[in-house]
Amino acid sequence: MLRLPPMAVTTRHSASAYPFQCQAGLPLTGPIIGQEVLGQGMFCYDPFCLYDTETLLSPCMLVSGNKGYGKSAFVKAYLHRQCLAGKWLAILDPKGEYLDLAERDGLSVLSLRPGGPVRLNPLDAGPAFAGTGTEDVRGRRIGVVVALAESAVGQPVSSNERSVVTSALMELERRGGQRGGRPAPTLRHVMELLMCPTDAMAAGLNTTGAELAADAKSVARGLHRLVEGDLAGMFDGQSQALVQWSGPGIVIDLSAVLQSPAFSAILVCAGAWLAQVVAAKDRQRIIVVDECWKAIRDAGFVAWGEETQKLSRAYGVQFVTIVQRISDLAAQADDGTATSKRAQGFVTEAETKVTFNLGGGEARASRDVMDWTESEALLVPKLPRGRALWRVGEHGAIVQTILSARDIAMCDSNQAMRSRP
Ligand SMILES: Nc1ncnc2c1ncn2[C@@H]1O[C@H](COP(=O)(O)OP(=O)(O)OP(=O)(O)O)[C@@H](O)[C@H]1O
Ligand SMILES: [Mg+2]
Repeated sequence: MLRLPPMAVTTRHSASAYPFQCQAGLPLTGPIIGQEVLGQGMFCYDPFCLYDTETLLSPCMLVSGNKGYGKSAFVKAYLHRQCLAGKWLAILDPKGEYLDLAERDGLSVLSLRPGGPVRLNPLDAGPAFAGTGTEDVRGRRIGVVVALAESAVGQPVSSNERSVVTSALMELERRGGQRGGRPAPTLRHVMELLMCPTDAMAAGLNTTGAELAADAKSVARGLHRLVEGDLAGMFDGQSQALVQWSGPGIVIDLSAVLQSPAFSAILVCAGAWLAQVVAAKDRQRIIVVDECWKAIRDAGFVAWGEETQKLSRAYGVQFVTIVQRISDLAAQADDGTATSKRAQGFVTEAETKVTFNLGGGEARASRDVMDWTESEALLVPKLPRGRALWRVGEHGAIVQTILSARDIAMCDSNQAMRSRP
C-alpha cells in the first residue's frame, strides 16, 4: 500500500497544491461579499440571480454566530451593496445600530417608543393592495391578529378562536365598506368586537352570541393586554409615520423597546405593518430581523416568521434572520412544544446559511440540522472574526467578508468598549 508522508501547507498554498479540493465558485453575479478563502477567488451573492439559475429555490437567509464575530457587519455591508444595486431594504433593528446605514443610503427611520410620535397600524391594507382583492388583505390581517394573540396567550390559537377572529375582521370590513372603505380597522377595533361579538357574527358562524364570546375570550384578553399595555400608543390606532415609500427602504429602530416584556409582539406588529409594502411586487426587497433570538421562543413571532418565509418567494422578498446560537432555533425542537418545532423552520427554510464562529459544543450540536460534514463542524469554532462558512443551496464556501474603510466605520459596534480619554 502506498503511504505518503503528511504535508503541512498554508490555506493559501493548498489551493495550488490540491486544486480540486473545493467546489467551483458560485456564478459571479450580484454584489461582492468578500474573498473565498479556499478557492482564492471573489465571492459574490445575490439570491434573486441564484434563483434564476436554480441554484436556490428559496431566498431566505439565516446568519448565525457568536457575539462580535461579524454577523451584523456582514449584513450591513451586504445591505449597502444590495441597495446600490436597487434593492429595497427593511430592517427591524432592536439595537438601533443600523442608523448609520440609514444615513448613508437615505433610508427612512422610524423610531418606535411608547408615547413617541410614530404610530403604525399593523392592519393597514397599504398602497400595495389598491386594486387587489380584499381576500389577500383579510388573510394577512387574520395572520397578524392570530400571531399577536399567540404572543399574548403564549400558545397557538385554536381553530374556533381563529374563526372568531376571521368573523370579527369580516364584520369590520363590512362596516368599513359602508363608510366608503376607509380607514383601515385597528387592533383596538378588533379587540372591542372580540369582547362583544355581534349577533350577525354569531349567526354567520351558526352559533349563539354567548358561545362566540366564550370562544373569543382568551384572544380578546390577550389583545387587551397588548393594546392597553405594552403596545399602547405605538400600534393601537391609525398609522402616523413619515415614510418615503418610493425611497430605498426603511429602518424600524426598536432600541427603546428592546427591554419591553412585549418585545416579540412589537416585532410582530412592526413586521406586519411592513407586509403591506412587501406585497407590492414592483421591486426586489430584503427584510432583516437582527437579534431575532430575543423573540424566538414567542409563538406569535414564530408564526409571523413562518408566514413571511412562506410568502417570500411569491413576493420576491429575501427574509434574513440573525441569531447567535443555532440551538436557539433548533435544539429546542426536542422539548416537544409546537413553538419550538415551528422555530426549526427558520433553519430548514433558509437555503442560504451563513455561519460565523460558534463554540465547539454548539457547532457539534448543530451539525445535523445544518447538514454540515464533520470537517465543517470542526472548522466553525476556528473561524476568525469576519469569516464565515456559507451554504448556498448545495454549494459550500468559506468567505472572508471584505469591508471598506467606510464600511468599517459604519459597522463598528465596539466603540463603547474602547478606552476613551
Ligand atoms: N470582516 C470584518 N472586517 C473587519 N472588521 C470586522 C469584520 N467583521 C466585523 N468586524 C468588526 O467586529 C466588530 C463586531 O462585529 P459585529 O457587530 O458585526 O458582531 P456581531 O456578530 O453582530 O455581534 P453581536 O452578536 O454582539 O451583535 C465590529 O466593530 C466590526 O467593525
Ligand atoms: Mg450584531
